[in-house]
Amino acid sequence: MGWSAADIPDQRGRLVLVTGANSGLGLETTRALHAHGATVLMACRNRERGETARRILTDQSVSMEGGIELLDLDLADLESVDRCAQTIRQRFGRLDLLINNAGVMAPPRQCSRQGHELQFATNHLGHMALTRALLPLMEGQPDARVVTVTSGAQYFGRIAWEDPNGEQRYDRWQAYGQSKLANVMFALELDRQLRDRGSSIRSLAAHPGLARTNLQPASVSANGSRLEAQAYRLMDPLFQTAAMGALPQLHAATAGSAQSGQHYGPSRLGGLRGYPKRQRVAPAAEDPQQRERLWDLSLKLIEAGPALR
Ligand SMILES: NC(=O)c1ccc[n+]([C@@H]2O[C@H](COP(=O)([O-])OP(=O)(O)OC[C@H]3O[C@@H](n4cnc5c(N)ncnc54)[C@H](OP(=O)(O)O)[C@@H]3O)[C@@H](O)[C@H]2O)c1
Repeated sequence: MGWSAADIPDQRGRLVLVTGANSGLGLETTRALHAHGATVLMACRNRERGETARRILTDQSVSMEGGIELLDLDLADLESVDRCAQTIRQRFGRLDLLINNAGVMAPPRQCSRQGHELQFATNHLGHMALTRALLPLMEGQPDARVVTVTSGAQYFGRIAWEDPNGEQRYDRWQAYGQSKLANVMFALELDRQLRDRGSSIRSLAAHPGLARTNLQPASVSANGSRLEAQAYRLMDPLFQTAAMGALPQLHAATAGSAQSGQHYGPSRLGGLRGYPKRQRVAPAAEDPQQRERLWDLSLKLIEAGPALR
C-alpha cells in the first residue's frame, strides 16, 4: 500500500486553513488533518453549507485535540479575500499551513465581483491574493507550507495572454484548463520567490486525479448538459473516493519528504487513481519566464480589481 492518511504526522498545535472545506476534497482534507490534532479553519463561501459540514465533522471526530472553525471566504470577491486574511491576522496572528483547494469547473461564462472570468478568479486570482495576504503570518512558523490544488486539466491548459478573462472568446473547458495550469505555475513561481528570499516556507502543488465530489455534478447542473451527465455516468468506475483524491494534497501538506517546488498526484492509470507520488508538471509550467509573466499579469489583475467595483 502507498502513503495514506494513517501516515500523516502529528499535527497537534498546527493551525491550518483549507479553502472550500465544506465539500469533496476540502472536507476530507479537513477531516484528516483534524483527526491528527490540527486546528482547521474551514474557509467557505456559504455559511449554511459550511456550518452543516463543520457539524458533521465535529460529530464524527475522534480527536480530542485542535478544533474546527468556520470562516467566511468568497474567492470570487477580492474584498472577501481581504476580510478573511484580516480575520486570521487579528484572531490568530499566525498560520502554519494553507491549502488552496476550492474550485469551480467549466461553468457558463460568469464574472467575479471584480469583473474577472469566474474560474480564473476563483481558482487562481483569489488564491493568489489570499496566499500573498497570509504569507507574513506563516513566515518563521515551523514547517510552514502552502499547497495549491491543481488538476490533470493543467496538461491541456494554456494561458490566453491577450484575453485571460475570456472576453473575446470563452470556451469553458479551455478556461478551466487555464485556471488549473495557472495554479501549478503559481505554486512553482511562489517556490522560486520563497527560495530567493531565503524563506523556509514550502510551496507545493497537488492534483487528485479523478475523485467523486460535487465538482462534476455542479458543472453538469450549471450547464444543463445531459451529454456530460451521461459521460460522467460512463466514467464512474474510474473515479476514486474523495478521501483517496485528497491524499496527494495531504501528502504535499504533511509528509516530511515532500519538498518545496514538488507536485504530487495519484500513481496509477496515468495519474487518475491511486496513492500519491511525485509527478511532472505540464511543460508550460516548467518555463520560469512564463511563470513570472503569469505572476505579473495576475498581480496587475488583482490590483486593478478593486478599481472595477
Ligand atoms: N474532483 C475531481 O475529480 C477533481 C479533479 C481535478 C482537480 N480537482 C480540484 O479539486 C479542488 C476541490 O474540488 P472538489 O473536487 O472537492 O469539488 P467540490 O466538492 O465541488 O468542492 C469545491 C469547493 O470549492 C468551493 N468554492 C467554489 N467556489 C468558491 C468561491 N468562490 N469561494 C470559496 N469557495 C468556493 C465550493 O463551495 P460550495 O460548496 O459553496 O460550492 C466547495 O466547497 C478544486 O480545485 C478542483 O479543481 C478536482
